[in-house]
Amino acid sequence: RVQTLEAKLQGKRTSSARKLRSARWLNREDDRAISALYLDRYLNYGLTQEELSSDKPIIGIAQSGSDLAPCNRHHLELAHRVREGIRSAGGIAVEFPTHPIQESTRRPTATLDRNLSYLSLVELLSSYPFDGVVLLTGCDKTTPACLMAAATINLPAICLNVGPMLNGYDKRELIGSGTVVWKARELHASGDIDDKGVLDMVSRGTLSAGHCNTMGTASTMNALAEALGMALPGSAAIPAPYRERGQMAYKTGLQIVEMVWSGRRPSDIMTKQAFENAIAANTAIGGSTNAPIHLNAIAKHVGVDLDLDDWEKVGFELPLLLNLQPAGKYLGEDYFRAGGLPAIMAELLNNGKLPHPDAVICNGKTVRANVEGKQSWDRDVVYPFSEPMISNAGFLHLKGNLFNSAIMKTSVISKAFREAFLSDPKDPDAFEAKVAVFDGPEDYNRRIEEADVDERTILVMRGAGPLGYPGAAEVVNMTAPGALLRKGLKYTLPCIGDGRQSGTSGSPSILNASPEAAENGNLAILKDGDRLRVDLKQRSVNMLLPDSEIEARRTQLMKDGGYKIVPSQTPWQDIFRREVGPLSEGMVFPASTKFRNIAEK
Ligand code: FES
Ligand code: MG
Repeated sequence: RVQTLEAKLQGKRTSSARKLRSARWLNREDDRAISALYLDRYLNYGLTQEELSSDKPIIGIAQSGSDLAPCNRHHLELAHRVREGIRSAGGIAVEFPTHPIQESTRRPTATLDRNLSYLSLVELLSSYPFDGVVLLTGCDKTTPACLMAAATINLPAICLNVGPMLNGYDKRELIGSGTVVWKARELHASGDIDDKGVLDMVSRGTLSAGHCNTMGTASTMNALAEALGMALPGSAAIPAPYRERGQMAYKTGLQIVEMVWSGRRPSDIMTKQAFENAIAANTAIGGSTNAPIHLNAIAKHVGVDLDLDDWEKVGFELPLLLNLQPAGKYLGEDYFRAGGLPAIMAELLNNGKLPHPDAVICNGKTVRANVEGKQSWDRDVVYPFSEPMISNAGFLHLKGNLFNSAIMKTSVISKAFREAFLSDPKDPDAFEAKVAVFDGPEDYNRRIEEADVDERTILVMRGAGPLGYPGAAEVVNMTAPGALLRKGLKYTLPCIGDGRQSGTSGSPSILNASPEAAENGNLAILKDGDRLRVDLKQRSVNMLLPDSEIEARRTQLMKDGGYKIVPSQTPWQDIFRREVGPLSEGMVFPASTKFRNIAEK
């Protein structure tokens, strides 16, 4: 395969009359001195004039790994193999750092930096002499930031995931990075483990280099990059330390050079069809509730119309096929050995449920050609389409008088929760319950133990959206009070909020509610003890309050100057709040979405 690709590249190089984009900097016929200036500093680390001024594409390697970003840190190693691939295919590799986004450490929340990393990458790719770029992805927001930039720039681009870390164990039990945090928090709240126990348990879930090995946002977004066609088939799921990961890095380096000569750009790959394939894949893998935010953002930047109704239309009725935590029991290594994403795409394809098998991906072939004949040998990890883990496993798009738009991932609703909340034979898809309302995570932590919460309470978190908690906090997954847990509560209480939820948590939650409280949406007028009706069949969430009461509360809210938010702590938080749109629209900066095809200009 490598030889064919190299032979192909040879042909392209000699036959291509097209000038490389980098020639505008490095090979200017109108001004040799300026070209010399552009290239001279790249000589001082050993590149030669011949390399830089000849017909060799300059390929950026957008390095997202560093000591500050440990999930992606293994890319410092993998980049060597990417370079070798680029070099073998006749390109010149130029590696540069991207703005780090470490999900687990960045305060107040890592999503705040998705748009910052996006903007800085757009600037770098547009203003330096790149002909193509390898985007090194991994930890949650690093992948969407890269794909958003690729969409805006429209320079040939391909993603390489860092890969999930190895499986973690607590004695013989599998414990997943990410999900273990929520489990340890519950055991700590119920008094089963002490402070040191929490630290030990969480560390045992983090066994090696790589990103979270559960189907959190990292595994989700990298699977979706592959499903979109922006990464090589089979590349997303390879665990970080496996030899296949380095081999994939090499192949990715080869491929990007081919993409440059073929002129295959993000807008050729990330079409509406590709997004619909990705939505279908997201249901089948049990993808994170952050996926709609990020995929809708990428779509906005590439100019594809995509909204939350598309998510429900394309994705809701598809089944969950992958038995991975948090919806299931296995972890990243099992997923890879069972065939990874191609095995899952093949299940959809063979059952006529892959919406667009003829979409063309980064390697120039159709999805069908890439996944045909793939099959999982481990049916406890990748379920057959005919006997799925869960049917109708996609997201519901909910509306009502509490918000205009929110999503719910139904595949993580437990049996115990269904029995407690959704078992009225006359009305099996709906429940009514009172609420306990918290204004941000600090308020929740301060008051949860004293709040009026019983086994039929909906926990509401507000002030946690893009404006309220700049960047939108991952805090809507709330744990019941310790006293209730000690009484043996068998399920997670339902949560509703204008913030996000970690892709690694498994609560039955209604998330990303827009408009958020900080925009004076109706979440802002909700009070402790109010009752809500959640009707999954009607796709609605409504406050059981008379319209006159809603009106009166709204008037009072506005008279009081609107919902109170904490002041911005940094210049970026302030800029972010001025520019950002709602979660339902991908939390992009609307002003940035009018820029397209920058690389061509
Ligand atoms: Fe980086 Fe989970 S914290 S992938
Ligand atoms: Mg996360």
